[in-house]
Amino acid sequence: MKNILITGGAGFIGSHVVRRMLKTHRDYTIYNLDALTYAGNLKNLTDVEGMPNYTFLKGDIVDESFITELFRKYRFDGVIHLAAESHVDRSISNPTAFIHTNIVGTVNLLNAFRHIWDGNYEGKRFYHISTDEVFGSLGDTGFFTEDTPYDPRSPYSASKASSDHLVRAYHHTFKMPVVLSNCSNNYGSYQFPEKLIPLVINNIKNKKPLPVYGKGENVRDWLWVEDHARAIDMVFHGGREGETYNIGGNNEWKNIDLVKLLCDLTDQLLNRKAGSSRELITFVKDRAGHDMRYAIDCSKIETELNWKPSVNFEEGLKKTVQWYLDNQEWLDEVTSGRYQSYYKDQYHNR
Ligand code: NAD
Ligand code: DAU
Repeated sequence: MKNILITGGAGFIGSHVVRRMLKTHRDYTIYNLDALTYAGNLKNLTDVEGMPNYTFLKGDIVDESFITELFRKYRFDGVIHLAAESHVDRSISNPTAFIHTNIVGTVNLLNAFRHIWDGNYEGKRFYHISTDEVFGSLGDTGFFTEDTPYDPRSPYSASKASSDHLVRAYHHTFKMPVVLSNCSNNYGSYQFPEKLIPLVINNIKNKKPLPVYGKGENVRDWLWVEDHARAIDMVFHGGREGETYNIGGNNEWKNIDLVKLLCDLTDQLLNRKAGSSRELITFVKDRAGHDMRYAIDCSKIETELNWKPSVNFEEGLKKTVQWYLDNQEWLDEVTSGRYQSYYKDQYHNR
């Protein structure tokens, strides 16, 4: 048996990672540590929460003494660290929360892991999940490789870049057995509808304006979230110590083209007149400091670990639209904030 801690497991990607690890590694005990911020939702895990090898722990990674105690109690053999403030627009309106969770929270986990194992790292691993945004913004050509110099340009990406540097510094200075990955934009079920794809689907459904920042020319490289969870499993088990792996979908889309495709897919699935939802597209003020293009070269993980994206984008997007249409109750709850007051009652706002 191994005790594995997954942080941020009630969020979008984290919930897919928890599900995958529970189902594919039944000899592990999986501990999901999550503060249940606005982005964390235990309803993302109802299908697996009864599994005997699963434990949910509510807590904040910024709380140093709580984290120290938790590691003393459970002596985690492995950590897969996803907990973060993750939305760029929120980092522009409130950068401080990003510094606390993404930087201080990561250091608290590194310190706690280091102190319980005290140099005896045989069979142990600390895996830090990061983003392609740390590399900055590309022009029309080129790709981010693992060697691209860091150039973060939003408070979110600067906080993630800091945490990446700290993880590497702990490897170099304290010989901690770390591994990292930097991934492109994920899409799929259980994503909080502040992010482009679920926000647009929800607004199309409710016939509300579809806000496209600037001219909609910015490009993102989209990856099916379950392909990311599979890559995380492979890097956790097969990635070389101290190394970083870039993960991406080889799937670049201009925002405006993606929004149009979402309109057409949703119209089809709702039996609406073809083209009708496109009329909802509204160009709005651009995001401050908006990065133009992200694109990942994922040849290292393909070559070393034999991973590659498995889902065709249009199929994955259609399934995603269908999932949000079928899960109206989930969408209503996360947009109404009802689930937040439930957590307050349930956990006494610990
Ligand atoms: P998310 O916002 O959906 O989930 C984050 C989770 O972390 C939530 O469950 C939240 O409650 C929890 N959390 C936040 N602050 C916490 C704290 N102080 N203590 C404990 N838990 C806390 O994020 P996501 O999109 O699932 O991203 C997960 C990770 O993957 C992040 O580290 C993010 O930087 C990275 N990432 C995301 C993407 C993407 O496209 N979404 C791409 C690449 C990398
Ligand atoms: O690249 C990986 C990153 O992808 C992750 O590290 C982040 O956690 C994740 O949020 C995501 O960041 P983005 O800023 O790219 O994602 P978002 O969904 O917020 O926006 C995608 C693009 O769509 C971006 O160019 C901004 C634009 N956009 C977004 C929203 C919410 C709009 O045009 N309108 C919108 O309403």
